Amino acid sequence: MPRTPNDRGKPWIAAAPDSWGRLHRVAAWVLLGNWAGGSTVPSRTLYPHQWSWDSAFIAIGLRHLSPRRAGRELETLFAAQWADGRVPHIVFNDSVPADAYFPGPDFWQAGVPGEAGLINTSGIIQPPVHALAAWEVHRTDPNDSLDRGFLHRLYPRLAAWHDYLLGPRDLGGSGLASIVHPWESGMDNSPCWDSPLARIAPADPGSYERRDLTHSDAADRPTDLDYGRYVRLCTDYRDHDYDDARTEHAFAVEDPCLNGLLAASEYALADIAAAIGKDPGFHRARAQAITAALLERLYDPESGLFRCRDLRADGADGSDALIGEGSVAGLVPLIVADLPEPVVRSLLDTLRGDNFALGRVHMVPSYDLTGSAFDPARYWRGPSWFNVGWLLHRGLRSYGATLDAKRLREDLLEAAGRTGFAEYVDPHTGDGRGIRSFSWTAATALDLIAEGAD
Ligand code: SER
Repeated sequence: MPRTPNDRGKPWIAAAPDSWGRLHRVAAWVLLGNWAGGSTVPSRTLYPHQWSWDSAFIAIGLRHLSPRRAGRELETLFAAQWADGRVPHIVFNDSVPADAYFPGPDFWQAGVPGEAGLINTSGIIQPPVHALAAWEVHRTDPNDSLDRGFLHRLYPRLAAWHDYLLGPRDLGGSGLASIVHPWESGMDNSPCWDSPLARIAPADPGSYERRDLTHSDAADRPTDLDYGRYVRLCTDYRDHDYDDARTEHAFAVEDPCLNGLLAASEYALADIAAAIGKDPGFHRARAQAITAALLERLYDPESGLFRCRDLRADGADGSDALIGEGSVAGLVPLIVADLPEPVVRSLLDTLRGDNFALGRVHMVPSYDLTGSAFDPARYWRGPSWFNVGWLLHRGLRSYGATLDAKRLREDLLEAAGRTGFAEYVDPHTGDGRGIRSFSWTAATALDLIAEGAD
């Protein structure tokens, strides 16, 4: 644990100024313990490299310990950005044994030149939380951030990242980005992916070996059949050099969580542009265009929820179709500014109703509690996750649902502490699932504690 003061001249683990003081200290200890020299591992055991959206949530918490280190977290990730603008979902740490994680660098065969040689990466992406995180990191100590040129360095990279998403990844030509693999959603085995995945022939189980089951209970993780399909989609993309124009993309979905985050990040990019003397107008207009496309393409007024659109399904109009499963991904657009008032009201009703039962279960379940595929233990098929809770808390606050936001904050903090910073929790019992000492659980707790102290 670092003994020197951090860049704010304070001890790394200071007492938090409210009743969450002990939780703050332990969360800081988890986060600093998972620091790997230039970035933070999500978990020392299950995820021993750098993950893209994890790092964004981690930076949002880490800024309360050290804004400079939080900035470094993001800059390390963006040092692995590809020439086409994509930010890979994993940046591999060469000092970690090759067999610690599957699929590793030998599988992906991808990377970019770095200052100290090739940086090995995956070839797929994760949701764009980064501009949002960069703006929050900057706001923690704006003078120091500007002095060090943090936003100046990151702005063109963030803009190129969003250009990639809205360029080569606009597979539906609709102004929304598509995911081409369930892992790209960050919600790997959501029931939303069951029907599009059913069309994918799984890879030969003898051609790879899962490593995740060494560290986590098999009942908490995706099934072998899902894994075989994940591997098949990766190899197809890899065998076409990760070129979106040349890959068939048998799995292609417009996801409301990813696109909601893109809209929110585009607004953050407008703030970033303004802070460094550039015109924010382009980004504001783009954020509004994404929001309009989200509403037009993915909003389902009947259920008060955004849905995923399967671009490869045979829908009623012969081309594509909204996926029927209700996922918490469909509530994440609550973080987008300026949604029409009736849409906000319906989303809040859905969140409070029987499908997600805000305030009546632990945190917010990842999938419809009444859905036939609901499983309270298995990864993204029901368990409640802390990053999603953090996003919804932010949405609730921004739309004036203060009491719901306050209760959700307390619920998230209580669960983080009680479970030892679990990866996810059973929404009915509150029992921790997956691994413990999980970085974004600690990071989002730090941020929620700090926010209460404002
Ligand atoms: N979340 C996926 C995993 O379990 C892919 O990054 O490894």
